[in-house]
Amino acid sequence: MRKLLLIGYGNVGKTFRNFLHKWKEELDAEIVGVVTRRGLMMGDSPEFRKDADVSVTDAIDKVKPDVLIDMASANYKDGQPSLSAYFHAFEVGADVVTTNKAPLAIRYFEIMENAKKHGRKIGFQGTVMSGTPSINLYKVLPLAKVKKVRGILNGTTNFILTEMYEGRDFSEALSEAKRLGYAEEDPTVDLNGFDAGAKLTILANLMLNKKVKIGDFQIKGIEDLKLDDIEEAKRRGSKIKLIAYADEKEISVRPMEIEANDPLFSIDGVENSLEVTNEVQRVSIRGPGAGPETAAYAAISDLFIINGTK
Ligand SMILES: NC(=O)c1ccc[n+]([C@@H]2O[C@H](COP(=O)([O-])OP(=O)(O)OC[C@H]3O[C@@H](n4cnc5c(N)ncnc54)[C@H](OP(=O)(O)O)[C@@H]3O)[C@@H](O)[C@H]2O)c1
Repeated sequence: MRKLLLIGYGNVGKTFRNFLHKWKEELDAEIVGVVTRRGLMMGDSPEFRKDADVSVTDAIDKVKPDVLIDMASANYKDGQPSLSAYFHAFEVGADVVTTNKAPLAIRYFEIMENAKKHGRKIGFQGTVMSGTPSINLYKVLPLAKVKKVRGILNGTTNFILTEMYEGRDFSEALSEAKRLGYAEEDPTVDLNGFDAGAKLTILANLMLNKKVKIGDFQIKGIEDLKLDDIEEAKRRGSKIKLIAYADEKEISVRPMEIEANDPLFSIDGVENSLEVTNEVQRVSIRGPGAGPETAAYAAISDLFIINGTK
């Protein structure tokens, strides 16, 4: 049975544990340790209780997992402690599954090179659109060169824009998003487009082989949009959406006017969507982009896929 060490035991971590118990046999895996800011818990328990005060990297040496499952908060400053944990895990022969965008948005290329050097795998479906297959969709579209990716990758901003289309102003729409649990208490990284930018960075590296980092390209959020802008677009029969776009030349996240015949026009509320155009065809997917269940399911899918392709 594969031994799992979890980094982070919040909403996604706890839901992951429930799913793991449900599909334990199929996944052939068990939790042998959980490390958080509070320290290391050995074994598997629904509630975290600290057994030792160790760093994430030391926890790897202590637990010796086969797979490190990263469900820790995103640290966009330097990607730590997850970034160092991945390098250490690969070095000592463990694979990695992550729902944490930050390390890949900052150091995608080095992480992939390091995994390759040590013959290890990394699953990161949960970093873009949670359990709605974006990263894993690409894995089943082999050989054909991707020409462009385009999508709505942030549910909070899409919800706010949908509410504004119905006539609410920005602050009313934001309050409603918070009330329904669609926006964090501090929603800055959603509203300023940074979260969508981190996801686009990962997609552009994976699918277009662009060696970009978050911060390398234009990101504009929705904070400056006025109800008048939305209503003017509505009068023209269009909607304003926060669009993540990358092709061979361009890459950006910014609000754009979307016409009624565009498939992204009908993506409302917290739903996300991604279009991948390759040299053969265009594929579109839509589905939930956030929530503990779909995020945990992404990690479960990766855990299953990693095992199946070994
Ligand atoms: N929730 C979603 O809908 C969703 C969807 C897709 C992706 N994600 C990503 O999945 C990850 C987890 O999300 P969540 O909603 O479960 O967050 P959460 O409920 O806030 O839990 C975060 C966990 O990370 C741990 N953590 C934070 N900093 C750490 C550090 N320096 N070292 C070790 N552990 C640390 C926390 O430790 P303590 O318990 O000690 O505070 C906590 O257990 C995030 O990266 C998030 O962006 C979430």
